Amino acid sequence: MIKAVTGTKDILPSEINRWYYLENIVKEVFINFNYKEIRTPVFEETALFARGIGEETDIVSKEMYTFLDRSETSITLKPEMTAAVVRAYIEHSLGTLQPLNKLFYISPMFRQERPQAGRFRQFHQFGAEAIGSTSPLLDAEMIEMSYNIFKRLGLKDLVVKINSLGVPQSREEYKNKLREFLSDKKDMLTEESRKRFDKNILRIFDSKIESDQKIMKDAPLLIDYLDEESKNDFDTVKEYLTKVGIPFVVDSALVRGLDYYTKTTFEVISNKVGSQSALCGGGRYDLLIEELGGKPTPGVGFAAGMERILLACENENSFALSAPSIDVYLVKLQPGPETALSAGKLELELSRIASELRSNNISSDYDYIGRSMKAQMREANKLNAKYVLFIGGDEYSRGELLLKNLADGQQKTFSKDDINRIISEVRQ
Ligand code: HAM
Repeated sequence: MIKAVTGTKDILPSEINRWYYLENIVKEVFINFNYKEIRTPVFEETALFARGIGEETDIVSKEMYTFLDRSETSITLKPEMTAAVVRAYIEHSLGTLQPLNKLFYISPMFRQERPQAGRFRQFHQFGAEAIGSTSPLLDAEMIEMSYNIFKRLGLKDLVVKINSLGVPQSREEYKNKLREFLSDKKDMLTEESRKRFDKNILRIFDSKIESDQKIMKDAPLLIDYLDEESKNDFDTVKEYLTKVGIPFVVDSALVRGLDYYTKTTFEVISNKVGSQSALCGGGRYDLLIEELGGKPTPGVGFAAGMERILLACENENSFALSAPSIDVYLVKLQPGPETALSAGKLELELSRIASELRSNNISSDYDYIGRSMKAQMREANKLNAKYVLFIGGDEYSRGELLLKNLADGQQKTFSKDDINRIISEVRQ
């Protein structure tokens, strides 16, 4: 039997209402902050991500789904959206239409990571990118939007971590300090961290290994080496978050796994999802647009993992959804003695009435597999139908349809030629 590929999963009808619920909140919050949705293709030319995210990052060097298509073009399934959004921003000259573009997205992403709880090879992100302003208020806005979404989902056990990576110049100076600090400790680092020492020294802070962490505990902190502008911007972010009542911690080891960040970075962590605890992450990327061939333009954004968020909601029991329901289930009875209609004709009449209800936006369904009346009633209950409309039997012989309200058991009859009255009754 062929099964879904490792690290991918089906979202089944039994789970879909949770996804709708999440997606609706996401859209409401983004629209509330005046962000507009952008949809980009699922795959892009590989060079976009290699250049945008950074050749030395784990994503580019180990995790991308990259293949040659039939015309020998190197294609990659998007592992993240920022590079793709920036590509679209440059390609369509969005910056000439308006100086600041506030964009959001909801989309599948692909990374060949080791699957575990909260980590998949195809997963979904929602996120936002604001391109065209250096204002640190936008950095804070990203944190506020993510926090609002999590709060509206009922999540409580959250930690907002923020940091500033400064500008490349101050970061270089800091990296030299870090190299100096580690020079006589390098041999005690794990192999992975020794590799990072040469390629991407800041990422040593990401090591989960205790011996590495012990060494890094005493390392100089980037936050103490920030340039004046980064420092001021970071202060504004902190001040704004305090003013709007979003608790945060400054974590100077928060370096993030993508190379494009400058100044503010942040993550929101849930203590309810095990080791894959980052619900979202983001930050400023003031050099990326230029790097990808556009005019120098600042940007800031974040993205959140939807599977992880739903897992946190489940583990926190943060929201309950009422069972999905339909408005009307049509139940076919045997044709009455005086009905001229055959069973087949009656069925057609029932489907015509269902069609009329559906055209009037009354959700309806009926039996297609010849079930008994009892079984049809069981189905109506299973579907949580608000009403059952009976067609057939003695009523039908009299030219009437019987409508039963399943909540209170009340029954009413209607002329079979007056579906509009049934519609009004159901709408009440
Ligand atoms: P990221 O930290 O790589 O950032 O991913 C953002 C979020 O996506 C993570 O915090 C996590 O919730 C989720 N995520 C990542 N990988 C997986 C996975 N394998 N399975 C399930 N969930 C996952 C970015 O992608 C940046 N583009 C964010 C950004 C936007 N920065 C600026 N603008």
